[in-house]
Amino acid sequence: MTRLFDSFQLGDIVLRNRVVMAPMTRARSADTIAGAVTAEYYRQRATAGLIVTEGTPISPEGQGYAYVPGIWSREQVAGWHRVTDAVHNEEGRIFAQLWHVGRLSHTSLQPGRRQPVGAGAAPAREGKTFAFTDDDTVGFVDVSTPRPLSTQEVGRVARDFACGATNAWDAGFDGVELHGANGYLFEQFLNPSTNTRTDLYGGSIRHRARFLLETVDRVSEAIGSTRVGIRLSPFGELFDMPAYAETADTYLYLASELSRRDLAYVHLVDQLPSGERLIDVDFLAAVRAEYRGTIIFAGGMTRELAEELTAKNVIDLAAFGQPFIANPDLVERLQNGWPLTTADRDSYYGGGAEGYLDYPRFDPATV
Ligand SMILES: Cc1cc2nc3c(=O)[nH]c(=O)nc-3n(C[C@H](O)[C@H](O)[C@H](O)COP(=O)(O)O)c2cc1C
Repeated sequence: MTRLFDSFQLGDIVLRNRVVMAPMTRARSADTIAGAVTAEYYRQRATAGLIVTEGTPISPEGQGYAYVPGIWSREQVAGWHRVTDAVHNEEGRIFAQLWHVGRLSHTSLQPGRRQPVGAGAAPAREGKTFAFTDDDTVGFVDVSTPRPLSTQEVGRVARDFACGATNAWDAGFDGVELHGANGYLFEQFLNPSTNTRTDLYGGSIRHRARFLLETVDRVSEAIGSTRVGIRLSPFGELFDMPAYAETADTYLYLASELSRRDLAYVHLVDQLPSGERLIDVDFLAAVRAEYRGTIIFAGGMTRELAEELTAKNVIDLAAFGQPFIANPDLVERLQNGWPLTTADRDSYYGGGAEGYLDYPRFDPATV
């Protein structure tokens, strides 16, 4: 019997179903402020049990792509408030994904055109970002060479995350998700190939995990642990994150440490490189054994997979990314077995309402 469409108690909030809209950058905020079109986009998708917003940088330093809405200024908080109001008016629930890209940035996006920061000093090989080119137009450019954060600055970045969380709270979000996945700053600390540090944030698994766990603690102090989730992408190699021998041990250590913190959830994402699964049921079960709270899983999700994994009790909530782009009414379509529309990849990032607000709801009269 399916439970995907049943309500779910997430900390002290109730989700109306177990379908989560995965975070997706859409780069439609030229002034870095989430505006009316962004509010309408999320409103259209508010029947999801939980929406996780696109990554929103917590500081100008954390910005890695042009046209992405941030969450460090009063104007940005006011912009996001329009989004949360629009979703709450539809009785939806919404978390902000708090983001620091670390080394995956470009000097044209950084304050004073300074170098981006990272755990170490190596740039991502073949890394590209969407930033300002020499003639001040926007396009794909090579990422810049980073400088390692000093030991003291690591604590400052954790506090920037806490400020971002407080801002998210002021903007009316139901909670925040720390973006610990996909090769960005937290993963640059977790992976020994990018973390070449010799201070207390580098070396052993415990040391490499310290920045992430300290940030979780700072953010939990700011808004309450049950409002804090974290996204992780074990075994993912996106943005020059090579495999390492201790990957499973690193994430199982994190799972057991996070389990003690009474968080909203842990959100695992399989990057599915070339369509191949990196995270199998056995690994999900191993995480489940270490982490006692709610687990969300994303990556190539279907109704069938969601039902299989929830029936096996290895996940609680199923997150869908791309299907939500072209199907604002994805929950109703899944529930009724209605066909899904395929999204146009060319309008994933940047542009205006086209490919953003103009995907219709399914009309059952056409069946
Ligand atoms: C256009 C686009 C933007 C994305 N932006 C983000 C992001 O900001 N943060 C994040 O954690 N993942 C991001 N992702 C990854 C998705 O959250 C999701 O994990 C991925 O699309 C796999 O799920 P799917 O197969 O259901 O699409 C993005 C994916 C797409 C397609």
